[in-house]
Amino acid sequence: MDNFTFYSPTWFQFGKDAEALTGACVKKFGGKKALLHYGGGSVVRSGLLDRVKKSLDAEGISYVELGGAKPNPLSGKVYEGIELARKEKVDFVIGIGGGSAIDSSKAIAFGALYDGDFWDFYDGTQGQVQESLPIGVVLTLAATGSEASTDAVITNENGMYKRCADGDVLRPKFAIMNPELTCTLPPYQTASGAFDMLSHCMERYFSHTPEVEFTDRLLEACMLTILKEGKRAMLEPDNYDARANLMWCGTISHNNVTGVGRAQDWGTHHMENELSTHYGCSHGAGLAILTPSWMKYAMKTQGTERFVMFATRIFGCQMDYEHPEATALEGIERLQVFIKDVLKLPTTISEIGGKMEDVPELARSMFHGAPNHSNLVKLTPEIAEEIYRAAME
Ligand code: NZQ
Ligand code: ZN
Repeated sequence: MDNFTFYSPTWFQFGKDAEALTGACVKKFGGKKALLHYGGGSVVRSGLLDRVKKSLDAEGISYVELGGAKPNPLSGKVYEGIELARKEKVDFVIGIGGGSAIDSSKAIAFGALYDGDFWDFYDGTQGQVQESLPIGVVLTLAATGSEASTDAVITNENGMYKRCADGDVLRPKFAIMNPELTCTLPPYQTASGAFDMLSHCMERYFSHTPEVEFTDRLLEACMLTILKEGKRAMLEPDNYDARANLMWCGTISHNNVTGVGRAQDWGTHHMENELSTHYGCSHGAGLAILTPSWMKYAMKTQGTERFVMFATRIFGCQMDYEHPEATALEGIERLQVFIKDVLKLPTTISEIGGKMEDVPELARSMFHGAPNHSNLVKLTPEIAEEIYRAAME
């Protein structure tokens, strides 16, 4: 196991009606005036925004609002939020919604304190984010783990480059997690969220680092839970326990407790950024499309051992000792069945509107200003093109 540093100080308020404690959480962490940031209106329609405001009123915390964060959030909204946060002198930013509203909130929170263009933390001009207004989260979609992660993913409208900034200060101070709030999700978003968290486990699981038994087993527990509860949430959208297990699993899959002490890959995620940017699919759907093709390329070039483990431990495949690659491939096939029949997500780029002639542009855009992409498979533009082509039809 490699040496590591791990600092994850988020306060979790989990369960039914948890949003009623938003005001108390802001107060606990010293906030007096908050910017409430949300997406396209689901939190208005559900009445959640009003409940959050009521809890802030009850604690005497004032606030201003900014809606309109788009799925795969855009830089323009972040600039607008930074200006508002500065003008109103807020001392807290609260993201209400899924990963997009949360990431946009994070970028506003650190951008408001930075004496330059917030994009400097995305294009390599600056390193990790060191300073931010405190961030709180009211989560409505179990998926990205942004409610406890160090990341904020934003797409720059100038060129449509989707990139990630990170830093420990971007871990929210608190996360309000009421699983009931996720019962209103359309099946596509429930499924996309389940696959995103599965991918967060796989990006960590497929590693060359030896002797990481404990995190291997944590990752396997997460993956088995996602298969079981993801299916249950698809079949029974109002099942509280399925939603609750999935929600907590999404957090643990990406706050990095499962990833410490080991090299991680993230190549599929970097390749996915191009699909959601070019074709407007959900992040999870893009990952579902690319993952089987990435796995086939990786097992061919990096050896089958980890892929056999995945097949036998996660999908219960029978070990073929004479042909381990057959076992590994069976695991990938069963994953594809889960994607198609259980999650009902697309399995090819062409299904979301892509064409074979787009492939060079996808690879070019992916490497624009971001040369180092991955670990187990060291992606180059040529390898990325090969994987995109394999996932096309
Ligand atoms: O915008 P509203 O109206 O709120 O609707 C949203 C949106 O249309 C809707 N929705 C959310 N909660 C709902 C709901 N609809 C009904 N009921 C609810 N309870 O769902 C749609 C998708 O929301 P979005 O926030 O875009 O989804 P998700 O949570 O999957 O976030 C995806 C974004 O997070 C990034 C992705 O790249 C993508 O930009 N990621 C962030 C990470 C991080 N910060 O750690 C890591 C991930 O790997 C990922 O890259
Ligand atoms: Zn992800």
